[in-house]
Amino acid sequence: MGIRHFIDFNDISREQWTALSKLTGEIITSPGDFADCCRGKTLATLFYEPSTRTMLSFQTAMLKMGGNYIGFDNPGNSSVAKGESLRDTVRIVGCYADIIAMRHPREGAAYAASLFSTVPVINAGDGGHLHPTQTLADLTTMMKEKGRLDGLKIGVCGDLKYGRTVHSLLKALSLFKNNTFYLISTFGLAAPRYILEEIENSGNKYVECDSLEKYLGEFDCLYMTRIQKERFASEEEYERQKGVFVLDAAKMKKARKDLIVLHPLPKVDEISEEVDLDPRAFYFTQAKYGMYARMALIKTMLETPFDPPAPVYPSDSGIRCPNPRCITNSEKKLPPLFTESQDGVKICRYCDFRAKW
Ligand code: CP
Repeated sequence: MGIRHFIDFNDISREQWTALSKLTGEIITSPGDFADCCRGKTLATLFYEPSTRTMLSFQTAMLKMGGNYIGFDNPGNSSVAKGESLRDTVRIVGCYADIIAMRHPREGAAYAASLFSTVPVINAGDGGHLHPTQTLADLTTMMKEKGRLDGLKIGVCGDLKYGRTVHSLLKALSLFKNNTFYLISTFGLAAPRYILEEIENSGNKYVECDSLEKYLGEFDCLYMTRIQKERFASEEEYERQKGVFVLDAAKMKKARKDLIVLHPLPKVDEISEEVDLDPRAFYFTQAKYGMYARMALIKTMLETPFDPPAPVYPSDSGIRCPNPRCITNSEKKLPPLFTESQDGVKICRYCDFRAKW
């Protein structure tokens, strides 16, 4: 029951998550027992967007298991700058590495890469869409600090529109029972409709609101997020949205003693520095758990039998997703993959965009 590609947390089964979580716990307890389990294996970190935690924790994870890593952190220094397609890049990297962790600014890029890769692909963040290994860090922290993923009251605050960590987390926690999500944002940065539908369909509950303080005293967990400046069309629009929600020591006085404050990081101005010293601030611990969770993921995926896809000879269908940020609008020769719901709404397999067209 291995994991072939890891593009979306919700692609794995409950049993797979349980096994991954158990292995993460074993690695946290005895990391030395895993010092050689990836000896002779190479991870490629292909980062088309900036990163500190995700890239370095993937690389450290591989080193801690006796493996190696290669990769780039700036596509401008790779042949991407000469116009090489995503398809060719992953095919080539598969000649050198046993597994790929890829971050890309385009939504659906990791799924597109997985269609052609001869080695397993991990989504390390695809635009404003998903960030499933951050979810592993988040769920590991919740399990360690709250002991459960069911029956939680979780405040999620900030950029719920472009925050890929939020999308992955809400979808993942919707697989569990009796959770209530307090979605705190401005109107302009509210969570996408398809995420709300996932929560509704799961039987969990959500409340949308524009106040951080209103329900703060009820939360088991508060998940703060940065306003994603790099996703805005203009500087003016970003300026209008930033600094609206700030967690500070005064607000923390209204929170429960057993609250845990999480943040995928980097943080900018949404959490005052004094909160870093509050014992309820778990975001640095969360980043460390993320490394252990990535160790468990890499080990599991490298142990999973992997049959490379049969080579395909691409042609351009000319069909594009209406979402301008979707990978189908920059990587031209991708198969058009849409499903259609009963009410005629088409859903893009790459980026989850939903519309009638
Ligand atoms: N949480 C996260 O993705 O951080 P980085 O952008 O630094 O990788």
